[in-house]
Amino acid sequence: MNLRLQFTLSVSVLLLFVIIFIAYVIFSSQKTFLTLQFEESRERSFKVVFHACEEALKSNEEEQIDNIINAIVPIHKPAIAYASFVSGYKRIFISRDEDSNVASAFLERIKRSYQYKTETYDSLTGEKIYEYSAPIISSGDKYMGTLIIGFSQDYMDSQIREGTSIISSKIKFVAVIAFFLAVAGANFMAARLIKPISLLSAAAEKIGEGEKNVEVDISRNDEIGSLARSFNEMSRKVKEADELKDSFVSSVSHELRSPLAAIDGYCDLLIEGINNQYPPQRQLKGLKIIKEATLRLTSFINNILDLAKMRAGKFEMKASGVNIEIVIKEISQLFESLALAQKKTLKVVIKDELSPVYADIEKVKQVITNLLGNALKFTKENGSITISAMKSGAYGDDFVEVWIADTGVGLSRSDAEKVFEKFYQVKEGEFKKPKGTGLGLSIVYEIIRLHNGRVWAEGELGKGSVFKFVLPVMRG
Ligand SMILES: Nc1ncnc2c1ncn2[C@@H]1O[C@H](COP(=O)(O)OP(=O)(O)OP(=O)(O)O)[C@@H](O)[C@H]1O
Ligand SMILES: [Mg+2]
Repeated sequence: MNLRLQFTLSVSVLLLFVIIFIAYVIFSSQKTFLTLQFEESRERSFKVVFHACEEALKSNEEEQIDNIINAIVPIHKPAIAYASFVSGYKRIFISRDEDSNVASAFLERIKRSYQYKTETYDSLTGEKIYEYSAPIISSGDKYMGTLIIGFSQDYMDSQIREGTSIISSKIKFVAVIAFFLAVAGANFMAARLIKPISLLSAAAEKIGEGEKNVEVDISRNDEIGSLARSFNEMSRKVKEADELKDSFVSSVSHELRSPLAAIDGYCDLLIEGINNQYPPQRQLKGLKIIKEATLRLTSFINNILDLAKMRAGKFEMKASGVNIEIVIKEISQLFESLALAQKKTLKVVIKDELSPVYADIEKVKQVITNLLGNALKFTKENGSITISAMKSGAYGDDFVEVWIADTGVGLSRSDAEKVFEKFYQVKEGEFKKPKGTGLGLSIVYEIIRLHNGRVWAEGELGKGSVFKFVLPVMRG
């Protein structure tokens, strides 16, 4: 059973119960109201006759009583079964029933009574009779006779039933209409609620089938709206992760294949060289290339292993006081000839008197090497790279801040946040992407994190980038 049907059914059943309950309440209160009304009107009728008889007796017009008793039974037939007046010397009895047995059974009940009372009993025919009997007392407290009237309870009940049956058929009619409206309403609500869920489930299926760029178009301000927003966010992340995986696979395969191919090719050349006695110069060149390729492979594998170690928290730091100025100058010197060869200028600016930082010197060298390496790699000919160090503006005197700024391809704001992710490389634009694995900056990030420092990137596309990091000053 699908969700829409389940929702419609459960809401409809719930509403059915509510409608039945309301209908029952209306019906029973109407019945109570009618019963009260009939009982009141029966009592009023008895009182009217009683007062008429009382007046007749008080004004010594006893013959009027005959007229009253004789008149009310035929007038109120079949509501009144019998009426009677008895006194010491007089007895009037009129029965509605022509059957003499029934009438005489009623007659047997006619007795003088000195107090007002009501009683319910079954007649000879099984009919329920509600009987009033009340003594009529003169103004001088003298008993003048008893008025007895038997009302048919069954007739009254049938009148009530008739009254309620009209109401009950109206209630039924309204309840049926209300129920159908409720079912239609529940179905509409279910459709409204379930439609975005179906959209989400279809979109999730597409992602499951490997489709990228899946988005659901639901703009609502409720929980479903926020679910849709989270879903779109998740879908975006899945796409990014997928792209990252692709770039990982291509980086890794490139980084492994190209040095291996070089080693393989030059090994063949060397074997051939030994057999054919190639000049040693040529063989040396081959060996140098094999050595370079091996170094490249080792560095790639070391990078991956270092990163995994640092991520797993298993990396041991040998921290001590490090003079950052010396480190910067040492590494810049190493890069100088490369920069010169690539027609790029490399400047070092030390702005303040700097306290030593508490760090692992080899790791700090690795950070600066990676950042300078990138700056050179992503800057075209005639560009310039500046490495500067100062007391930290953003993090205060307890930190030393280092900037590596270049006039290269630059970075967009969103890429500046992502470049520290493992294997992330900015997509190739007009600028041809140089070689690389996308690991350098993740290693920088992990090293700085282990030193309780911070690293971030700023830049503008086409104008250049600045990579900045802070390291804590050594205490005590
Ligand atoms: N100075 C820079 N200017 C512009 N983009 C940069 C700069 N430094 C890094 N990036 C971008 O950040 C990406 C990630 O840099 P990272 O150093 O992690 O990897 P890589 O240099 O491509 O490869 P690897 O360092 O592993 O050899 C680069 O591919 C590049 O797109
Ligand atoms: Mg790099």
